[in-house]
Amino acid sequence: MAPKYGMQFAHVKSGVVVKGAQKTMARVNVPLDPTRTGRDAEVLEGSLRRMIVGQDEAIQQIVNIYQMYLTGMSPAGRPIGNFLFLGPTGSGKTRIVEATAESLVRNPRAVIKIDCAEFQHSHEIAKLIGSPPGYLGHRETHPLLSQEVLNQYHSDTCKLSFVLFDEIEKASDALWNLLLGVLDKGTLTLGDNRKVDFSRALIFMTSNLGATEMSALVNPRLGFNAGECARQSQNGTVDEKLSGKMMRSGVEAARRKFTPEFINRLDKIVTFKPLGSPELRRILDIELNMVQQRIFNTSPDRSFVFKASDGAKDFLLQEGTDLKYGARHLKRAIERLLVQPLSNLIATDQVRGGDCVNVAFDAECKALTFVKEAEGLAVHAMADLVDRSISMPAFALANGAFIEAGKTQSARSSKRA
Ligand SMILES: Nc1ncnc2c1ncn2[C@@H]1O[C@H](COP(=O)(O)OP(=O)(O)OP(=O)(O)O)[C@@H](O)[C@H]1O
Ligand SMILES: [Mg+2]
Repeated sequence: MAPKYGMQFAHVKSGVVVKGAQKTMARVNVPLDPTRTGRDAEVLEGSLRRMIVGQDEAIQQIVNIYQMYLTGMSPAGRPIGNFLFLGPTGSGKTRIVEATAESLVRNPRAVIKIDCAEFQHSHEIAKLIGSPPGYLGHRETHPLLSQEVLNQYHSDTCKLSFVLFDEIEKASDALWNLLLGVLDKGTLTLGDNRKVDFSRALIFMTSNLGATEMSALVNPRLGFNAGECARQSQNGTVDEKLSGKMMRSGVEAARRKFTPEFINRLDKIVTFKPLGSPELRRILDIELNMVQQRIFNTSPDRSFVFKASDGAKDFLLQEGTDLKYGARHLKRAIERLLVQPLSNLIATDQVRGGDCVNVAFDAECKALTFVKEAEGLAVHAMADLVDRSISMPAFALANGAFIEAGKTQSARSSKRA
């Protein structure tokens, strides 16, 4: 017979076992799997993996902290999570914070961004916390970090705030002290003595510290390994050894620059990996979907569909690969080679609502070519041509495009079924 799990506790009143109460315990030996996460954390992980490429460590850390928050296991009296993200430019440090907000509160802009470079002088701190009463301009200044600002994106289902301190190595001492207090106690005192509670906030800090050392590793001019690194850099691959070296150099640079009391307050330091060709290829698909979404968001009667051939994608990748600049370089190539020509086609009425445009690569001219393949497509016909993650024009009109995306999905799946 299967063993009986759990126990029945005896009813105890003032230390006396009440008569009739039964005390049983079934001994079991069930192996448990602490690596499995609950459904909500799993949904967050899936969503982050769809949006963020090649930064699994960062995704894992965010999901772990979120899981702890959901089960009430986060330490009390401090923010839910304090993260320091290091790594090369254009590797997804800022994007992952936006993607977390997008996944949890359906709004990538629900991130309170503090650009630390703007607070290099101590007096500028008043912009963040407001001036004390009696000071000039006290009533006019609205502190950037008030409780209202922090809570503005809370929804019925998610009461989290996302705060991003960008380029923290540029912060003044005053900002630094403020940051230490927030990380440690989860509270901030404003100029007028009001307290701001950060205990429902995820704090992300980014820094390009160590980036110079990292890019020197990718593009070394001297040294016996220079040839190999240059080859990797050119064809856009980064092997484990090189990426491991880059990780270490990031963390070492952080330890050199930041005090132990700051490092001690962090839950996790993550060094983002440089993106190689396979990652950029996946990011290209994500970015092309975003361009398609932009087209649908402009106006419903101008919505059209574009399809990029493999040749066109290869060309965009070739033009957009530079290990030093990560995905930013790829995004610039997409804007220059695809988005600009498309906007010319729209402005000159060569492309109209309901069209399907094929984008291919002409090897002789070394340029993308644009051919209208169909016209007069209805919304549902366009829906069949694009990725399922894209919300359709009729819905995109409404403000909550992402919220409606779910409905579109189900509408589509029932249509396809
Ligand atoms: N790992 C990634 N996965 C998906 N998209 C990415 C990734 N990395 C970068 N991108 C794309 O490139 C853009 C720029 O990346 P992001 O702003 O996150 O760079 P960053 O690491 O914060 O760089 P910086 O240190 O210069 O601020 C993002 O908006 C996103 O579109
Ligand atoms: Mg950034």
